[in-house]
Amino acid sequence: MRIFVDCDPGIDDALALAYLAARPDIEITGVGSVFGNNSVDITTDNALRLMELYGRPSVPVARGAQRPLVQPPSFAESVHGANGLGGVETPAPQGTFFHESAAELLVRSARSAPGEIDVLALGPLTNLALALGLEPRLPKLVRRVVVMGGAVRAPGNVTPWAEANIDNDPEAAEVVFAAGFDLTLVALDVTMRTTASAAWLDELKAIEGDRARMTSAFLDCYVDWYTGVFGTRQCAMHDPLAAAVLLDPDLVTAAVDVPIRVELKGEYTRGQTIADLRPNADAFADRPGVRLATEVNGEVFFARMLDALR
Ligand code: RIB
Ligand code: CA
Repeated sequence: MRIFVDCDPGIDDALALAYLAARPDIEITGVGSVFGNNSVDITTDNALRLMELYGRPSVPVARGAQRPLVQPPSFAESVHGANGLGGVETPAPQGTFFHESAAELLVRSARSAPGEIDVLALGPLTNLALALGLEPRLPKLVRRVVVMGGAVRAPGNVTPWAEANIDNDPEAAEVVFAAGFDLTLVALDVTMRTTASAAWLDELKAIEGDRARMTSAFLDCYVDWYTGVFGTRQCAMHDPLAAAVLLDPDLVTAAVDVPIRVELKGEYTRGQTIADLRPNADAFADRPGVRLATEVNGEVFFARMLDALR
């Protein structure tokens, strides 16, 4: 399997990269960075650091968008720390970022291997929207896309209705959902119900080696923030769950052919992901449907996540 990862690392992005990098049968064809959890300078630097930490130093890391298509950028330092990795110092990267932008690298990779590359999108969808501007045939050139983002039948996490990756660039998300990708959406509907327990976090802490030790240290900051949300020591596993779903679609039950629109105007609802889930749905008939994850086999996922870090 060949995967292009578009991400804004970010602590849970780091776990997703660890999950993929641990699988020798997976080729990571490139990593695109995007603003989101932090500035694109920081997320690009983190992507380089993480690919080295997780044993994939030769994967090209391409710097992506520094701002959304329309609105000004905002970052999530309170969740991920000022350096995006919970304040943990990782070794400085040996390599530097690629000469092409994330959108250019994605387009070139897709053109060079039509129908072979899967895209895992773990941040704002700006790079994908820009890539569609460069290559409108992109939905036919990539095999499928798994997006971590949105909140369809669940509350948002940055506003009452909007999830961070969509809220960070609603216009880009709207372009991507309209484009006709074979797309699976791993939204807060499932990621907020797939939380790492205190016992699981302790198991991770007990694993030896730099990769697990540093990943566990990243999580300390993230768990502190999520403890404020849940009231007990646990955290959501947004991005690694999306990575796991890309590798094994059977890990989730999904509603199929669900058209999604992004609210672009609402005073209180901008960034909301809206599906027409009525039995006689006809509102978004002009829009290609996505696969919306609705239930997860959490036990299998958490066992695999620990295996990846062993
Ligand atoms: O809402 C969760 C998502 O926003 C995750 O991808 C996290 O890393 C942030 O980007
Ligand atoms: Ca992310």
